[in-house]
This record gives sequence, structure tokens and C-alpha cells, in this order.
Amino acid sequence: MSYIAVKGTHDIYGDEADGYSYIQTVFKAIAELYGYRGIETPVLEYTNLFERSTGESSDVVRKEMYTFLDKGERSVTLRPEGTAGVIRSIVEHKLYATSDMPLKVYYTGPVFRYERPQLGRYRQFLQAGVECVGEDSPYLDAECICLAMQTFSMLGFKNLKLKVNTLGDADTRKKYRAALQEFFATRIDDMCEDCKQRLKLNPMRILDCKVKEDQERVKDAPKMKDYLSPEAEERFYKTLSIINDMGIEYEIDDNLVRGLDYYGHIVFEVHALSDTGKDYGALAGGGHYDGMISTLGGPADYDAGVGFGMGVERVYSMMKDNGLLNDVAHKLDIYLMPIGESVMDECYELLENIRLIGYSAIMPFKVAKLGSMFKKAERSGAKFALIIGDEELEKGVAQLKNLATKEQKEVHLATLDEELDAAFDEIEEHGDDCDCPHCQEKKN
Ligand code: HAM
Repeated sequence: MSYIAVKGTHDIYGDEADGYSYIQTVFKAIAELYGYRGIETPVLEYTNLFERSTGESSDVVRKEMYTFLDKGERSVTLRPEGTAGVIRSIVEHKLYATSDMPLKVYYTGPVFRYERPQLGRYRQFLQAGVECVGEDSPYLDAECICLAMQTFSMLGFKNLKLKVNTLGDADTRKKYRAALQEFFATRIDDMCEDCKQRLKLNPMRILDCKVKEDQERVKDAPKMKDYLSPEAEERFYKTLSIINDMGIEYEIDDNLVRGLDYYGHIVFEVHALSDTGKDYGALAGGGHYDGMISTLGGPADYDAGVGFGMGVERVYSMMKDNGLLNDVAHKLDIYLMPIGESVMDECYELLENIRLIGYSAIMPFKVAKLGSMFKKAERSGAKFALIIGDEELEKGVAQLKNLATKEQKEVHLATLDEELDAAFDEIEEHGDDCDCPHCQEKKN
């Protein structure tokens, strides 16, 4: 019998784990630059939370949730997205009463959707997201888009495509839904079963349909922009002018309605080109929403929100294809080499001291030949080998070998911290690509 990961889930290890951690670190650092603070909510929530907020007409809630009864017969769901849990938490703890508005939070964590697994589409995936709630301003909407774009730019992405659209205000959407209902009424008999449901629940969802023939029919459907109230139109163009002034290019996509029910006003998605021509789908998506706080029992005064979620798997795959992860794999600093059993205890003590100074270090705990230790050191990616035998120990020294340049020098154990700092400073200053005359000479 063999044991394998559940379909649509995957293990993350080695270089991939380093890549995921790097992406999340960059994301968090940028979110903090914009005044966001971390929040963690449970993976498991009561099912009615998502039905009420994420939206009963969305495919995510209708078809893709991992929902089950717990042992107490309560219906619980593995979160299919991050926003609902965050808003639930803000309302439950009345965070609007104890924090200045807007309240800005970021999160990363696993998300579950029972979708058909394919390229860039998993059943468990990692989302990094932000929510900014409690104050309504096109500047906040624009700022959230800037944050998303800034994250991708810090990760090294070029050729980003930002797609935007507006879903207007409640009045706009009411008129638009009526127009779609009328348009599709005469066409729906030939459309897929899902679209038949969507027409009843929320005809805007038809615009999301992935069935090719239905997508053709959608092309001639009425456009949201023709139903915008003057206020909604003004707000959309104000938000666009702010991001435009920030030098961010965008493309208006009339059919971008997003797959979740809570959006209004601006919505957006970030796409990028992979050097290998692969299409992983949107790297991030989000937008403005109104009414979530009051829907979940909080005061309507704080109802406005904006946020986005980024799919870490997709971002990682795209970065890998585009060669943006070459320097992020975790590199070990030191591989300590004890020559013989007699120096093992002292070496182990030294190993812990090196870690306390702040350098990552490992050593073999079985006596091994020098050649085999060097092979392992090179495979570990360590920058230096620190070699110690009886003779060195007696003199209070060790041999420090730069594993890239093969230069070796004697260092004193009493002043090891300073000697290591100096050696690492030199690597920083004269990295692998350094073309100063000294490094050139060493390479030759
Ligand atoms: P979403 O567009 O459903 O939005 O998901 C956000 C991102 O998660 C997508 O752009 C994509 O990168 C990634 N993603 C979605 N589904 C999958 C999947 N099956 N496999 C891998 N990655 C996937 C939301 O979830 C909203 N909560 C975003 C938001 C926050 N809006 C406002 N605030």
C-alpha cells in the first residue's frame, strides 16, 4: 500500500519551500510599509459565514467548499478564501471600536477549493492577502492596488498586466442585473446548466462562465459601463487617475466581474507573462467591497473595504519560469568539519557557539574522511568550511576555507566571531560576480 498526498494538494520542500518563504517575506514587508499589521484567523469556520458573505451565487460557495459536519453535528467549512474570516474576526472582536480607521490587516495561509486540479489550480493553495476596512475612499482603493503592484515589482516581475473594471454601486448593479436577465432570457436554453442557475441567482456570474460556447454568447452581452450611475462612474475614474499618477499601467476589462459576490466599485486582477509561455491564471485578484461588516452584524458606518489575495503557488511557478528565484534558495553559512572522534565534543560546542553568533552551521556527527566531508559541504551550499583536528585544537585555531574561491586561512577560535564577520563581509563586498582586479586574478 502506498500513501500519497490528497488529489489537488501538494508538499512544499527544498528550494520550493525557500521560494514560498521568500515570497511571503517580501509580501509582508511591503504590506507593513503600507501600514498593515498581521492577522491570523482559523482555517475552519462555520459554513454560514461563507454563504452569507462570500456569496451564495458564487461557484466557490455553491460548488467548491470543503464542508462537513463536525462531531457536534455543526456544519463547518475549510475556508475557501481569506476575506470572510478576517471580517468575521473584526466584527466578533469589535476591532472597529478599538482601532483607528481604516483598519489594515494582512495574512497568509492555506485556502481550500474543490476545483478540478490543473496548471496553477490546486485544491489546497496558499493565499497571501490584505484587507483595509472601515473607511471609504478611492485613495484607499488605489493604495491597495499600488501595494499589490509594488509586491510584484519587488519580487522582480516585469511585463505585469493589471486588469481593472468597476462593478459600480448597488443601484448600478441592480439595473445591470436586470439588463443581463433580459439579454440572456432568450439565449439561456442553449447555455450550460450552471448558467441556467446563475441567471436565477445572479446573472453577473454568467460573465465568468468557462464554457467556450457560452463565452461567445457573453461577448455581446450588455456592458456594466453603460449602466453606471454618475457617482459610480466618477469614483471609478478618480481611482484610475490616482493609480495612473503613480505610474501604474492598467487595462479596463469589461468582463472582469470576479468570482465572489461581495465586490462593488473597482475590481482588479494581476496577470503576468511566463517566459515559458505557460498561463497560470491571475496571480492576484481583489477589489472594493461594501456591506460585509454590517452583513456580519457590525455597524454599517464601517462597511467599506478593499483588499486582494495573491496565489503563492502561481507566483512561485511564474518566478521559477522567469528565473526570478535564482538567489533566494537558503544557503548555509558554515560546514564544520571535525577531523576524528577526539575533537567531536569541542566541535559540537563550537557549532552551537557559531549559531549563537548568528551564522547557520551544521557538522557531521559521524567521523568521516575529509574528502567526503568536502563533498557534503559543497552539496549543502555552505559558503565556508571550518576544519578542526587535534593539532588545530591544541593551538586554539581552525582552518577556514571559502568553498567558492578555495582560499583557506587560519583563524583563531578566541576571536572567531570577528574573524567570521570579516570573512562574510568580504564575500558580501566581493560576491560571485565581482569583477574587481583582485577577484579576477583569483578566478584565473
Ligand atoms: P480570488 O481571486 O478568488 O480572490 O483568489 C485570489 C488569488 O488566489 C487568485 O488570483 C489566484 O492567484 C489564487 N487562486 C485562486 N484559486 C486558486 C487555486 N485553485 N489554486 C491556486 N491558486 C488559486 C479571493 O480569494 C479574495 N478573497 C481576494 C480579496 C481579498 N478580495 C478582497 N479582499
